[in-house]
Amino acid sequence: MLKFTPDTNVLVLTGAGISAESGIRTFRDSGGLWENHRVEDVATPEAFNSNPVKVWEFYRQRYQDSISSKPNPAHLALVKLEQFLGDNFLLVTQNVDCLHIKAGSKRVLEMHGSLANCICTKCHSKLAIKDIDLTQPIPLCPFCNGILRPDIVWFGEIPHYLNIIDDALRKCSVFIIVGTSGVVYPAAGFVLTAKLMGAKTIAINLGKPDNLAYIDEFYQGKSGDILPGLVAMWIGE
Ligand code: APR
Repeated sequence: MLKFTPDTNVLVLTGAGISAESGIRTFRDSGGLWENHRVEDVATPEAFNSNPVKVWEFYRQRYQDSISSKPNPAHLALVKLEQFLGDNFLLVTQNVDCLHIKAGSKRVLEMHGSLANCICTKCHSKLAIKDIDLTQPIPLCPFCNGILRPDIVWFGEIPHYLNIIDDALRKCSVFIIVGTSGVVYPAAGFVLTAKLMGAKTIAINLGKPDNLAYIDEFYQGKSGDILPGLVAMWIGE
């Protein structure tokens, strides 16, 4: 049975599935966001350039969903794991819903950005969404009147923190994936790097992820049901 000590170096990657039990819709499951919206209409720089009103409509709704949602037992289990491992823990999330931060995770990298912020396309100021007037069809920068965009990494853009993540993948001895379909790169390829560098790879997911071939231990089911028990076992509670 796998046991961690405070010296075990653990890297965790999460995706939309970890927030499903908090009421946040995933992307590719039945009823997921990409069932009712086309990626090309709402999640690319080209979509924003051609129809910013529509793109803002989509993210305004997602922002409202995120502020009204609460972390679930899987988010809280990762906080507990971080408290046990300290600096030997790093959480990388593809999620933009802020639920890891709301839960209390500190060592968290939001590689696809965050619904909590927006960026001015003209002066590049970063602003908290809570401080801007979201009733405008296209919110404008209070400093320069430029068009604001959500602080989200869209398809065709480069995710944040890739150098730090690459270092962490090479250093970790355990790589844990929670709630992601393993379809979207570069995140879907992290498991291969970790495995090639000698890490044990673990996944907790409702469906079988596309990169299952690189997973040593697969726990199939809801992360809110499974992860708290696994963390308790790993840290010897
Ligand atoms: N517990 C664990 N896993 C779950 C749960 C749950 N309660 N509910 C759903 N899942 C799993 C699904 O089986 C699926 O494999 O979570 C996964 C969600 O996959 P996606 O919807 O593809 O979400 P994700 O992998 O995070 O998407 C990656 O794609 O559209 C982009 O930028 C967006 O960050 C996102 C990226």
